[in-house]
Amino acid sequence: MALSFKPLHATFVAEVSTVDLRTVKDAATLEQIRCGMDKYNVLVFRNQPFTDDEQLEFAQRFDGQLHARTSTSVLVKNRFGNEALSDISNVGADGQLLSPDDRRRMTGLANRLWHADATFVEPAGRYSMLSARVVPPVAADTEFADMCAAYDALDDETKSTIAGLKVHHSIAYSRELLGFEFAPAEKEQLKGAVHPLVRDFPRSGRRSLYLASHASSIIDMRVPEGRLLLRDLMEHATQARFVYSHHWAVGDFVIWDNRSTMHRARPFDDGKYRRELRRTTTLDLPLSVTA
Ligand code: OGA
Ligand code: MN
Repeated sequence: MALSFKPLHATFVAEVSTVDLRTVKDAATLEQIRCGMDKYNVLVFRNQPFTDDEQLEFAQRFDGQLHARTSTSVLVKNRFGNEALSDISNVGADGQLLSPDDRRRMTGLANRLWHADATFVEPAGRYSMLSARVVPPVAADTEFADMCAAYDALDDETKSTIAGLKVHHSIAYSRELLGFEFAPAEKEQLKGAVHPLVRDFPRSGRRSLYLASHASSIIDMRVPEGRLLLRDLMEHATQARFVYSHHWAVGDFVIWDNRSTMHRARPFDDGKYRRELRRTTTLDLPLSVTA
């Protein structure tokens, strides 16, 4: 079926015309969505009443292999029994709101730092797909930053300085920034991964700044200088003109490209209101499209 894309921001993000993704199985429609991702980097679908299994199936149909080595899996067992379905909620296994000092809540708070998903593993995450099941009556938005527009807006000197640089990403680093502590055995499982600072997208001919709060150091650069450069780039990339804020409604399903966008959760009264979303993230592996 023919889909149309309505831009929601000057440089990225589009809302897709009415479609039920549970029933989208043909190669041509899936490819239209992939082309939409190449162009907009974030796609918003409304009224997608996925069950957990349907969401897992769609994610694989759309983009292949799922990321299951999540940071949370090192800390607590997933309440859905499947680490590929990330529990983006403030609700515990007992169905009650998490207490303020619950470890899952504490690590979830790090979602409020600008980041991309699964930059701390190899292969890294490609697409994340977040399904809104329960949303609070107050704003609890997710913000996205356009890292292609941010790259394009760099001056030529900065572009040549950062060309070819590689960055170490560690989930322990971003958590520790917030004072979260890991046991030695947990840290051992969270060693991180190294990825290029600038990414190329052959399909769109564009480049992005590949950054996240997990970025701890630049390889072959002294730590303070590397961290200062990462901070400067982060400040540049998160200027208001590069940011879109998504206000969630139940049934929203948002797909973003972690290689070309960053995102962060905005604060709300999570001790009072329930917020439940489920995330599936695919790995950045070559996609063998089956017709
Ligand atoms: C995520 C995430 C932000 C939010 O699901 O990866 O960072 O607003 N979510 O819940
Ligand atoms: Mn995230």
